[in-house]
Amino acid sequence: MDRPIYNFFTNDHERIDKLLDRAVKNPKAIDLELYHRFRVGLLTHIKMEEKILFPAAVLGNGGQPIPLAAKLRLDHGALTALMTIEPQMKMVKVLKHILEVHDQLEEEEGGMYDMCENLTRHQTAEVMEKLSKVSEVPVHPFNTHPVVFEAMKRALLRAGFDYDKLAETLDLNS
Ligand SMILES: [Fe+2]
Ligand SMILES: [Fe+2]
Repeated sequence: MDRPIYNFFTNDHERIDKLLDRAVKNPKAIDLELYHRFRVGLLTHIKMEEKILFPAAVLGNGGQPIPLAAKLRLDHGALTALMTIEPQMKMVKVLKHILEVHDQLEEEEGGMYDMCENLTRHQTAEVMEKLSKVSEVPVHPFNTHPVVFEAMKRALLRAGFDYDKLAETLDLNS
C-alpha cells in the first residue's frame, strides 16, 4: 500500500535528526549554523503537522478529534520551548530523548501517521500539495534569560518530561 504521508513525515524526521547529529558532532563546539538549520527544520515540521496534517485528519474523522493529538501537541510545545534555549550538551540530550519518544508515537504501527494516512485517504493529493507549499518558520535568536529556561522546564513537565531528572539520568548513562 502506498504511504505518501507516512513516508513524507518519516523522511523529514530523518533529515532533521541528521542535522542535529551533525550540529553537535563536536560536543565542545556546537555548530550554530547547522543548529539553526535544525531549528528551522523542526519548527517547520511541527507547523506542517499542526496546521496541515492534524486538521486534515480531524476533517477525515468527521470533525472528531484524534485522542493522541493532544499528547503530541504538548510534546510540540515542549520541543518549541527547547528551541528558544541556547544549546548545550545536557539540553541536547534531553532534546534528543524527547524527539525519540515523540517520533515513535508518530511513526510506530497504528501511530499518528498511520491514523492520519487512513483518515486523509480521500484528500491525500490536497494534503501533499499543501505540504509542498509550506513556508519555513522564522526562527528568533536564543533567549538566555533564566525565566525562559524555567518556562521551558514547565512546558516539558506539561508533556510529562522532567528536565532536571532527564538531564541527570541521561548524563549518567552516556
Ligand atoms: Fe510531531
Ligand atoms: Fe513528526
